[in-house]
Amino acid sequence: MPRAKIAGIGMYVPEHVVTNFELQKYMETSDAWIQERTGIKERRYAKRVGETTTTMAVEASRIAIERAGTTAQDIDFIIFATLSPDYYFPGCGVLLQRAMKMGETGALDIRNQCSGFVYALSVADQFIRSGMYKNILVVGSEKHSFGLDFSTRGRSVSVIFGDGAGAVVMQPTEEQNRGVLSTHLHSDGENAESLAMYNPGTHANYWVQQPLASFDTAEIGEMFMSHSMIDNAQNFPFMDGPGVFKKAIVKIPEVIMEALNANGYKPGDIDMLISHQANLRIVQFVQQKLGLSDEKVYNNIQKYGNTTAASIPIALCEAWEAGKIKPADLVCLAAFGSGYTWGSVLLRW
Ligand code: UT7
Repeated sequence: MPRAKIAGIGMYVPEHVVTNFELQKYMETSDAWIQERTGIKERRYAKRVGETTTTMAVEASRIAIERAGTTAQDIDFIIFATLSPDYYFPGCGVLLQRAMKMGETGALDIRNQCSGFVYALSVADQFIRSGMYKNILVVGSEKHSFGLDFSTRGRSVSVIFGDGAGAVVMQPTEEQNRGVLSTHLHSDGENAESLAMYNPGTHANYWVQQPLASFDTAEIGEMFMSHSMIDNAQNFPFMDGPGVFKKAIVKIPEVIMEALNANGYKPGDIDMLISHQANLRIVQFVQQKLGLSDEKVYNNIQKYGNTTAASIPIALCEAWEAGKIKPADLVCLAAFGSGYTWGSVLLRW
């Protein structure tokens, strides 16, 4: 049975750099607070008009496809991970298919937020191993800047997120020392509302009463997105930051150990850890727990903030471009986030 290898990788971040100081114009915050709590110095914001989650994905995909030595027309399946799609539906996969003039290939959208790329890679891995597809484009892309609360009310969420895209092309390989060794996926919906964007949605407060919108005055046809939701800023993401933090620092090391144990490795065997870039403090905690030296962990949250589904492919791409990942290196990818969902991928580069 063949393994799935990353045959090509690409990334795209918008030109517009937004520093912590710039955010002070819109909300009560400070460069010191943001750097101390998250490690973030700046992030990128896409053009408000003319740049979308899908157009950023196109830029990253073009590079990944070229580096894989293939063409958009030869891609036989698309997997697109995002929480900030161009449309509520249809998903970005078909928009990417159209924009890149691909054939009538299948296009699957993954809605797993921070762990979206890890889930997407796992699906691609299975399709390659089974022989179903031979050239899968896997993308993570986010345009967060379009949907954040930039008032002081939303500061604990809005300072963290940034825009960008990353993509890989997965192909089969018979090489002994190459490819995805295993993937491990998990979920626990107990805290589904701890990191969520409730509206628009069909919940009508079924799961939780607070801090969700009031539906008292909603008329038929107004339930999905009502004026009161917008008036009360209930169309923005909500996050119990400390709650997510506490869970992440347990679950990320756990799922990395699961991957290592499944393959007979120890933390010291990892050549490069690429963790979801949610918070530099979370990654440093994971690094410390696993006893990894600085050169075995790559972080770029300082420059891009948290780009959710795009963060792992962007960091992986930069680390590879910088020569920090070499052929046959043991690379571990790990993510935790909204859902909660989390997972890891262990691969030989
Ligand atoms: O990728 C998805 C997964 N997400 C995560 O993994 C995020 C995990 N959580 C975190 O990264 C951190 O919890 C945050 C960075 C979101 C927040 O850091 P924290 O150290 O947990 O701060 P906190 O939420 O406990 O807030 C501490 C204080 C509060 O003020 P009081 O109540 O102590 O007076 C906040 O109102 O900091 C205040 N605060 C801010 N101050 C300045 C919150 N946001 C800001 C801000 N600027 N942007």
